[in-house]
Amino acid sequence: MKFRALASTCAIVAFAGVAANADPADDTLVINGEIPIVTHTDAAPPYIEGLTEQYSGWHFREADTRAMEQDDFDNPGMLGVEAAAANWNEVDGTAGKACASCHEAPESMAGVRTQMPKYSEAKGTMMTLEMYINECRTERMGAEAWGWDDAAMVNMTALISSVSRGLPMNVAVDGPAAPYWEQGKEMYYTRYGQLELSCANCHEDNYGNYIRADHLSQGQINGFPVYRLKDAKLSSIHNRFKGCVRDTRAETFKPGSPEFIALEVYVASRGNGLSVESPSIRN
Ligand code: HEC
Ligand code: HEC
Repeated sequence: MKFRALASTCAIVAFAGVAANADPADDTLVINGEIPIVTHTDAAPPYIEGLTEQYSGWHFREADTRAMEQDDFDNPGMLGVEAAAANWNEVDGTAGKACASCHEAPESMAGVRTQMPKYSEAKGTMMTLEMYINECRTERMGAEAWGWDDAAMVNMTALISSVSRGLPMNVAVDGPAAPYWEQGKEMYYTRYGQLELSCANCHEDNYGNYIRADHLSQGQINGFPVYRLKDAKLSSIHNRFKGCVRDTRAETFKPGSPEFIALEVYVASRGNGLSVESPSIRN
């Protein structure tokens, strides 16, 4: 019985290393000729046991997709950034304020994305960038919270991330972050769904290999939100998590759920040292 179950899983999911193409592309990313992006390191953080090197998902995409990230004029994700930059100055809510009323220019957010998710002393919980934005909207502007995957929200996270491009991801894993990190780590290695696959089975054990037509990356989130060519729009971290869990034919968690927040803490830390690259471009 056991053997049969395993055999059928293998029949559905075949990992293939296609000799010539399987390696991550040997390439370097400089945006607009002036922002060098660390997309590869040979020193993963010591608390990430399963990785010796780190690769941005950029290395696993085709040359033409990689090239689109080299110049903001070719990057369709920048349209979302521009929409958010306009929104930044727009008054919304009962307090008659815009983001700009308190935060000056978006560039004042440089470095913020590198630390997300970050523990909030005031709230006594780990908060993602989306949660910080909604805290300002609801508590400081008297405006409505944006949904996790609303265009306005995803665009705003892209704007705030874009001003950190080139800076290294530096998410805390200790202190009050530790229990969230532990929970996220456990999820990362849990096998989900009918296919009984964990995040690690695909993104740690098999990065560089192909699954169906997809060249598997390490599943890093330094490039999020990402512009997905197949959707022709920007996509949030939790939306990607949801798709990956669903691909294992499991019930998935909701964007913004405590489970996905903990998973984000852990996955973000796997990329500590890689540059913020958002908005990046993926399939
Ligand atoms: C009434 C003033 C006010 C308005 C308006 C406002 N914020 Fe804030 N924002 C704050 C304050 C105060 C903090 C907390 C700063 C701190 O504790 O370091 C904050 C924190 C943040 C943070 C977290 C920064 C960090 O370093 O952790 C983000 C992100 C943010 N705001 C985004 C926005 C966005 C986007 C808007 C518009 C939709 C907005 N804010 C509107 C006052 C405001
Ligand atoms: C069955 C294999 C499989 C499993 C299991 C899986 N993924 Fe993925 N994931 C993919 C594929 C295929 C892609 C698209 C190609 C790529 O970037 O790897 C992807 C992409 C991603 C990306 C986008 C990376 C980028 O740079 O754009 C993230 C993040 C991610 N996965 C996280 C996860 C997490 C977290 C889990 C566990 C909850 C998970 N994945 C489970 C197959 C999987």
